Amino acid sequence: MAKTQIFYAPKGTYDILPSDQKYWERINKIVRELAVFYGFERIDTPIFEEASLFSRGLGLTSEVVDKQMYVFKTRGGDELTLRPEGTAPIVRAYIERGMSVFPQPLKLYYSGPMFRHENPQKGRFRQFYQWGLEVFGEKDAVADAQVIHTSFQVFKELGISGFNIQVNSIGCKKCRPRFRDVLNNHYHSFLKRLCPDCKRRFKENIFRLFDCKNENCIALKQTAPQVIEYLCDECHNHFKYVLEFLDEVNLPYLLNPYLFRGLDYYSQTVFEFWPENEVIPGNFALGGGGRYNYLVETLGGKPTPAVGGAFGFERAIEIMRAQKIKVADSKPKIKVFLAQLGILAKRRCLKLMEEFRQAGITVAESFGRDSIKAQMRVADRLGAEWVLILGQKEALDGTIILREMSSGSQEVIPQEKVIQIVKKRLAAKG
Ligand code: HAM
Repeated sequence: MAKTQIFYAPKGTYDILPSDQKYWERINKIVRELAVFYGFERIDTPIFEEASLFSRGLGLTSEVVDKQMYVFKTRGGDELTLRPEGTAPIVRAYIERGMSVFPQPLKLYYSGPMFRHENPQKGRFRQFYQWGLEVFGEKDAVADAQVIHTSFQVFKELGISGFNIQVNSIGCKKCRPRFRDVLNNHYHSFLKRLCPDCKRRFKENIFRLFDCKNENCIALKQTAPQVIEYLCDECHNHFKYVLEFLDEVNLPYLLNPYLFRGLDYYSQTVFEFWPENEVIPGNFALGGGGRYNYLVETLGGKPTPAVGGAFGFERAIEIMRAQKIKVADSKPKIKVFLAQLGILAKRRCLKLMEEFRQAGITVAESFGRDSIKAQMRVADRLGAEWVLILGQKEALDGTIILREMSSGSQEVIPQEKVIQIVKKRLAAKG
């Protein structure tokens, strides 16, 4: 006999079981409420896009494009990618759908699955969920602060504490080349001490040196020049305003002069939210983002200032669990249970159930069970306050038994008045 094959979820993926859904629902609800309050509108883009959207948008030397994209050829010969992030697809939609003629700034929010071929570990998956905010058509520093502030409020509403916000400015096309030269000169004399990856990064994209986790490279980073000292006046002032806005809303932040972020599209402000290690161990950011004033143009649109950020669901949930944050189940509380005996009663109950739904009353059942005793046990387990019992006799004479679970008292009522009577009883109990 052929051996039965057992299937497993692909490496780096997981199932969101019914008991876990409440975390996802909670985050989605809070993101939606806050985003809408702050003037963001929902956008959804496809799960896959043309592969070149990301190589052009995120940069060929970014780790995401270089090593982590799921790229596949379709039967028609197109090269597509499972989206590794949401910003480039939204910029594509902004250009393709002519959103630049909408009133600006255009504020968009989203949530959904992203895909990166990473080495799975704590807080790192191959399919993971992000929520994010993007603002188009606003060059004022207030937009940067609003994205950071709205994101902070989401964490606050979730009840998450013990994380910090790191910020930096990485300059613009005008001032960054000068800093790159300075950095080049600095690292040139330390080339031999860099790890093999950083030797490559030195040639390809020197700012990536700051992302290295190698101890030697981290130590060298601490002696490197800081970008902040090489900003042009415009970038300097922009950053100053961002910090002033953050101060105004009492948002605590840390300046991290070596924060550059791993994607090529950033300019000026960059930020990341980091859990403090004593709160939850793990080397992962809760989220991050920044300004990307050149991306719309890079992807074929007209020059449009933009800023945004994205955050991982799994990492927030990990902290919610570690901090024992209570999340209420969104399942409605069962107050009424419908029990039946006999085929005629079962049929009538199916109809009754629909009548209750239309009346806005949640009713539970266990129609698969035939014994009243077994059905009463289910009603008890669900915590129902009332049980309606429809037997063969009641089905024929148009009545139904209403039993109060706490007292065990029963009464026979007409079926056509059952909704009305149950409604009254529920209202009386409050
Ligand atoms: P990112 O830093 O690549 O930025 O990702 C943002 C967040 O997504 C991370 O901080 C983390 O919480 C989560 N994340 C990323 N990769 C994984 C993974 N493999 N497993 C679990 N969680 C993960 C972006 O994606 C930019 N699009 C952010 C942005 C929006 N910039 C401007 N607008």
